Amino acid sequence: MFKSENIYSVLKNAEMFLESRGLFGTKRDVEILLSSVLKIESSKLPLIRSEKLTDIQKSRYEHYILRRSKREPIAYITGSSSFMYFEFKVNRDVFIPRPETEILVESVLKFLKRKNKCSLLDLCTGSGCIAVSLEKLGKFRDIMASDINPNALIIAKKNAQINSALNIDFVESDIFNKIGGKIFDTIVANPPYVSCEEYGLLEPELKYEPQNALMAKDSGLFFYKKIATEVDKHLKENGVIFIELNANKAESIKLIFLSNGYKNIEIIKDYAGLPRILRAEKER
Ligand SMILES: C[S@@+](CC[C@H](N)C(=O)[O-])C[C@H]1O[C@@H](n2cnc3c(N)ncnc32)[C@H](O)[C@@H]1O
Repeated sequence: MFKSENIYSVLKNAEMFLESRGLFGTKRDVEILLSSVLKIESSKLPLIRSEKLTDIQKSRYEHYILRRSKREPIAYITGSSSFMYFEFKVNRDVFIPRPETEILVESVLKFLKRKNKCSLLDLCTGSGCIAVSLEKLGKFRDIMASDINPNALIIAKKNAQINSALNIDFVESDIFNKIGGKIFDTIVANPPYVSCEEYGLLEPELKYEPQNALMAKDSGLFFYKKIATEVDKHLKENGVIFIELNANKAESIKLIFLSNGYKNIEIIKDYAGLPRILRAEKER
């Protein structure tokens, strides 16, 4: 695909190749993939644009560009994704951390800023991005993070190690079923929330992610209903829950929490102005 051209031409050709396969606006993609091959920051690429790639670098980059042309997400190709101020290892066992979820982390930190030593449960932890970021940036005492997928937990534990977040207890659990009698000050979750109909309409990139990280029964409301009805046993008095929303179903989700006796419900919007996070306290 790339002959003995300099880096500038390699990037241009990669962009043109992806365009010929129906992907547009790929300047950033080709730069990130090349900087991953060269193990440098993408901001450094302009400084070396007249240099040439070695044969090994060329064939690795070709392989990356071919994968991207089949609509594989960049994060799975490079094996890494940024979230908050940290890097997270990802593979196809885990959902790729999203910028919207940073709003959940920021909301928790803002809400709890005057409280010290709270306990926290991160349900549906996936790559562990929420639990690890909150341990690094907050002042929590006990943090438990759970997921039904043992392979996701392997990655989450690695991410905790890589980021030196060493006080998280990872548990394999179908929502609350292995949490035992533990109760927490704060529970956070980004559960699967895409309905079967919505799943059919997703971009090809999302089909690379684990289906059970995205899709939920009951028109995408299954986990909201399950969490709203069962969280009571695991939340302390005046405890608070933060949950990421399917923006298309925010009103229905609010009603689920209202009808389960939650108070002080707040809906926090994302940068696109969409309802993204629900915060609620349990009425006692
Ligand atoms: C949308 S991903 C969120 C991952 C991560 N917390 C994040 O925000 O990037 C949802 C996660 O829920 C997990 N999951 C699916 N069904 C579950 C269940 N019944 N109990 C616990 N976790 C479940 C999936 O394995 C996946 O890791």
